[in-house]
Amino acid sequence: MIPPRYRLTKFRNKVIAIDGPAGSGKSTTARIVAARLGYIYLDTGAMYRALTYFASTQGVEPSDGARLTALASGLSIEFETHEDINRVSINGQDVTNEIRSPEVTQQVSEVSAHKDVRKAMVAKQREIGRNGSIVAEGRDTTTVVFPDAHVKVYLEASVRARAQRRLIDLARMGVATSVEEQIAELQRRDAMDSGRKHSPLTKAKDAYVVDTTNCTIEEQVERVLSLLKTVLK
Ligand code: DC
Repeated sequence: MIPPRYRLTKFRNKVIAIDGPAGSGKSTTARIVAARLGYIYLDTGAMYRALTYFASTQGVEPSDGARLTALASGLSIEFETHEDINRVSINGQDVTNEIRSPEVTQQVSEVSAHKDVRKAMVAKQREIGRNGSIVAEGRDTTTVVFPDAHVKVYLEASVRARAQRRLIDLARMGVATSVEEQIAELQRRDAMDSGRKHSPLTKAKDAYVVDTTNCTIEEQVERVLSLLKTVLK
């Protein structure tokens, strides 16, 4: 049920793009904001994760750009979003949990660094967003996928805060780890996501920066929603 205040004309058919590093709270924030607006939620990272998982089941290496691109082009990725969970299926198989495994997390930055893999994925993402009414999040949604988004948000948080969030998520999945281990993993992924040649993670010049280091999820959501209320015409 969409709260009445979000049924205003200015919230109709807009494209909201949210980027930021791993663990900045993009997914949770984007999912809840989308639910409150009655919008589609597009988790572009989940698409790269789904491809990474699928490739591993087919024996395709994360370094093999040509085979990964062929897989990406033929892959059907479906989302089923509720306010509290985003279920992901590939070719009809539910892979929601599999795509969050430490193995997939380790390999996904390499998979997503291939230029032609990105081209195939960006085409799918634009197709999903062609009618607007979408909150898209990832690393390049504000810069490459939807450069004309009505509102662009860049979420950031200290690496320690992000590591602590990851720790909680992984504990829920029964994976034991430490803050220091997660800090190292996040720094490795930040370096790959920001340092890669094709579509690196960067702050779009016209993005609104929201620092979530000391925010609860509800506070993050409220900050983004109040930003949208102020900025959208
Ligand atoms: O947000 P996430 O951790 O689920 O993203 C997984 C990986 O996918 C991340 O390391 C970088 C990549 N990614 C990307 O290259 N471009 C996007 N738009 C989204 C994610």
